[in-house]
Parts: sequence; C-alpha cells; structure tokens
Amino acid sequence: MTWLITGGAGYIGAHVVRAMTEAGEHAVVYDDLSTGVAGRVPGDVPLVVGSVLDGELLSRTLADHAISGVIHLAGKKQVGESVERPLYYYRQNIEGLRVLLDAVVEAGVRAFVFSSSASVYGMPDVELVTEETPCLPMSPYGETKLAGEWLVRATGRTHGLSTASLRYFNVAGAASPELADTGVFNLVPMVFEKLTQNAAPRVFGADYPTPDGTCVRDYIHVADLAEAHVAAARVLAAEHGKDLTLNIGRGEGVSVREMIDEIASVTGYDRAPEVTERRAGDPPRVVAAADRAATELGWKARHDVRDMITSAWEGWPLR
Ligand code: WQD
Repeated sequence: MTWLITGGAGYIGAHVVRAMTEAGEHAVVYDDLSTGVAGRVPGDVPLVVGSVLDGELLSRTLADHAISGVIHLAGKKQVGESVERPLYYYRQNIEGLRVLLDAVVEAGVRAFVFSSSASVYGMPDVELVTEETPCLPMSPYGETKLAGEWLVRATGRTHGLSTASLRYFNVAGAASPELADTGVFNLVPMVFEKLTQNAAPRVFGADYPTPDGTCVRDYIHVADLAEAHVAAARVLAAEHGKDLTLNIGRGEGVSVREMIDEIASVTGYDRAPEVTERRAGDPPRVVAAADRAATELGWKARHDVRDMITSAWEGWPLR
C-alpha cells in the first residue's frame, strides 16, 4: 500500500514520513513548501510540490503513484494568524481538505488519516479531556480543525473510506536534529530563543487556577506522535468502515513553570523567567485522556518531557 502524506515536508509531516518508511510503508509526499522544507524529505521518497487547492494535480498524483491511503497534515496552524486571517484559514484548511477529499473519493482511496488538534476543545473545564468532551473551539484555526473532522467523517461514511482524526496535544522535540521544528511559535522554541538571546523567558500569566498558577498542557514527543500515525494507518488499512476520533497525548499535565525549569536543567541556561500578562484565549489546563488511542491503536507515547526538550535543543540552530 502506498500512502500520500500531505504536508510531509513540514515539522510533524517529516517525522510521519520517517516513521512510515521505517515501518516498511511506501510514502509519497505532497507539499507546497510554503513552510515545509524539501530537504526534510528523504531522497528515496517522491516529493510532489503542489497545493491542496490544486485538485487536478492531486488526482494525477493519486493515480500516478497508485495511492490507496492518505495522511493529511498540510494546513495552516497558527492560532493568532487565524484570528487575523479567517478567510485564508478556511480556504487552506477547509477548502483544501474538500478538494483533497473530492480527489480521494474519485480515486477510490480506502484510508484517510486527518491531522486534528486539541484546539477543537477550546477551554475545557475538566481534569482530563476525553473525545466526548464538548468541542467549543476558540479560534478560526480550531474551528477549521473541528469542521475538518466533520467533513472527513461524513465523507468516510458516505463513500466507504476508513477514517481517523488524530487530535494532537502539544507537540515538541525531534527524532533527529535535522527534523527539528524551525518555527518559533510554541513554548519550547520561544523559551530557547529568549535564553540564547540572553533574555528572560516569558511566562504568559501566573495567576491561573492551577497548582503553580501557570497553564498546564499535555506535551507529546513528535516521534511518538508520528508512531501514532503509523498505528492509525495500519488499523485503517486492515479494517473497512473505521471512523476514529482520538486524542494523541500522554495524559500527563505539565505547567509552563515546570517546562521552563526542565529547559534550564537541559540547556544550562538558568535565567529567571519574567511573568507577563496572560495571552488572550489561553485555557488554564488542557490534558488528554489518552486511553482511547491506546485501545484503538495499541499505541502509547514512550518519551517524557526531558526527551522532548533534549532532542529539541539538539536541533536548535543557535545553541
Ligand atoms: C503553551 C503554554 C502559553 C510561550 C497551541 C495551539 C494548539 C496547538 C499547539 C497546533 C501556554 C505558554 C508560551 C512563551 C508562555 N497548535 N507560553 N511563554 O497555546 O497550548 O497550543 O499550539 O497546531 O492548537 O493552540 O501552545 O506552545 O503556544 O503554549 O508562557 O513564551 O505556554 O501561554 O500556556 P498552546 P503554546
């Protein structure tokens, strides 16, 4: 079976490509290289440079490579930008998905894995978020992920496509330095940037109703996340009519302060953080109930926060 991996030149996508090929699956990457990097795609994996809005190129790619499964990671993923450019986010993430699904149905593809996000939950008021926790996204980005899940599920049911939407929690780390995240949009790289500029890392609010007053998240190593895709791909390939929605997290809450302490311990840069105002829209606590993915996929995260920080630091360009 050959899998098309859209967004396979991106940070998470390149890890999925590596995990899939190491598991013996055939992969083809489809990426517009807007944020992806061609050099992340292994030489023996075909790379088709194109947009998910280009239905003709998608159809040709699916046919030329005899694709029977798709892992769709291509998309825009910055919450703040999505608030400023909702039309752009809906076009890329929803229209792009619709165009892709049209081509997928036409080509008779059997399995579809969709990259979703914990941001579909918005501000959950629970200790552990289950897949049944109501979804109330707080940004156009989160809305496109939730609506994307609906579109994937409806298409799967109607057109006999086995589907899985994987709700990623907070992704960090790298399987090897050259696959590290090049964006500075999340906590770990933002703290690295400050420390290596000899500045204090920032804590966006320390007056949350959490044990140390800072926000709590469920961090997951990108290599574990990639393995969840391999497991999902195999389950979908083996069984028709699957319709899965799964949290992909570790089920363990870690606060911003705990993350910054661990970063200091790994990097040796021990600078007291500066507490600033809360960032708009940040939920106090988002931690996954991770048991459904374990049951459905036989998958479980293996790496801890220290592994994530150590591997991210090894790939940090300015260290
Ligand atoms: C984590 C915590 C910040 C930087 C977002 C999206 C989510 C997903 C991952 C996917 C928060 C705090 C951060 C800093 C800080 N996106 N922080 N100082 O907001 O949980 O999730 O990214 O594609 O959908 O919403 O992740 O890494 O931005 O922040 O105190 O310099 O760290 O306030 O509490 P977040 P994050």
